[in-house]
Amino acid sequence: MPLEATDPELAEILALARKYAEDAGTIQRNRYETGLTIDTKSATIDLVTEVDRACEELIVTGIQTARPGDAILAEEGHGGDDEGARYRWIIDPLDGTTNFAHGFPRFCVSIGVERAGERVLGVVYDPLLDERFEAVRGEGAWLGERRLAVTPETDFGRALVATGFAYDVHRSDDDNLASFRNVVKTARGIRRDGSAALDLCYVAAARLDAYWELKLHPWDVAAGFLIVEEAGGRVTNFNGGPADRTGREVVSSNGFLHEALLSQLEP
Ligand code: IPD
Ligand code: CA
Ligand code: CA
Repeated sequence: MPLEATDPELAEILALARKYAEDAGTIQRNRYETGLTIDTKSATIDLVTEVDRACEELIVTGIQTARPGDAILAEEGHGGDDEGARYRWIIDPLDGTTNFAHGFPRFCVSIGVERAGERVLGVVYDPLLDERFEAVRGEGAWLGERRLAVTPETDFGRALVATGFAYDVHRSDDDNLASFRNVVKTARGIRRDGSAALDLCYVAAARLDAYWELKLHPWDVAAGFLIVEEAGGRVTNFNGGPADRTGREVVSSNGFLHEALLSQLEP
């Protein structure tokens, strides 16, 4: 049995989020390894392709047509005005652009929804594996028909942990390398896979025990935070306080390993 939203309005929003995540994912699957126009944004290593933009256009147009009163915040420039809207869609049309541009098969579409400022729904779709991770507040996290639960691991030495590096890593001293070193020396294994939204979903799906990163953005985490929480995991900032929606400090885990991870992260 797949996820069902009991609230009728959330059920409508879930159907829309699923449709546009999968439609954008189909564009990505069709354009994968076909040759792309690639531009840069905040740094020479911060890429955007025509596919990022096409996916955002498709998702945003679909949502605006179906629900004209909702607010939208999307990575490639759409929206940002919250005035009076009860629902807010936060969209990363293609999370893992560097991977996509290099033909490295790990990227996704991420769509999160807030209601009155609270995370209520998230859908993350991996088009190559045809895996759809999703959650509705209070109704659990799911991968297709399977309900998700985080790992029961309590020993950091047996943990598989993921992280990432921000696009300012060439020029900033706040570069995550000290924390990376600490975790490399203590965990069973570490991964840098290049899709923050999938990293969060993999914590929820018990494929990772924990994940942290700095300087993310709302669209990287809007869906994934809820998916981790609904799978029984924990998301916080680097002090163990509530994770804020900006994504500037992200620590997520199965809960049991949270303090052990926090203690190794350098501010
Ligand atoms: C990026 C990916 C990557 C993370 C970066 C993000 P993008 O998103 O999630 O894993 O390390 O910080 O910005 O640019 O591919 O949408
Ligand atoms: Ca992203
Ligand atoms: Ca993106």
